[in-house]
Amino acid sequence: MKNLKELIMEEQNNVAMMPRIGDMAPDFTAITTKGNIKLSEFAKDKWIVMFSHPADFTPVCTTEMSGFAERKSEFDALNTELLGLSIDSIHSHLAWVNNVKEKTGVYFDFPIIADLDMKVSKLYGMLQPNEHETAAVRAVFFIDPAKKIRLIMYYPLNVGRNMDEIIRVLEALQTSDKYKVAMPLNWKKGDKVIVPPPKTLDEMNDRMNDDSCERIDFYLCKKDLN
Ligand code: BEZ
Repeated sequence: MKNLKELIMEEQNNVAMMPRIGDMAPDFTAITTKGNIKLSEFAKDKWIVMFSHPADFTPVCTTEMSGFAERKSEFDALNTELLGLSIDSIHSHLAWVNNVKEKTGVYFDFPIIADLDMKVSKLYGMLQPNEHETAAVRAVFFIDPAKKIRLIMYYPLNVGRNMDEIIRVLEALQTSDKYKVAMPLNWKKGDKVIVPPPKTLDEMNDRMNDDSCERIDFYLCKKDLN
């Protein structure tokens, strides 16, 4: 007889592939701490940062969720809605949110999906049975206003995420879209950005005479955005 892990892996292999960067975010309906939502109708014209945590009332998850809550105003300023998820009941979510608020004063003022039937976790590859059979890993999906997945992070159960990095990549994606540029190693807001490399010989020759950017060679030029 197959064990639980084998059954989950078999089921995941049979259903659609895990979403990848560039895919449209698979649609779903879910129960959350802010009422029922349908992803395709949630956060119209906004970015969504959707993240899973393994379990309510656990230490690393509490620090991470508090981190999202404490920096929510920065996500608001980036036109971004937060959406949490774990394979816990809505009653557990409500009790945990209330407990953290009582103990620390931090309020998780964003919807948290109660994914007890694991529907959303499986749809987004958040359930990785070789890491844990029944708890979601620490995933982060960056979904743009067109509902396209633009960046995915997966962390194991025992390592918390980095909120500075989450906000950095969100700013990088939005800046890249707005100015049609790319971001170099360790880019952060205010740093020089990479000008797209030329695609023709004429463009290459023009680039070699272009003193408006910091040029290493025709294929690597950086510029300030202001
Ligand atoms: C934690 O959040 O502390 C945690 C949750 C699940 C497994 C291990 C750690």
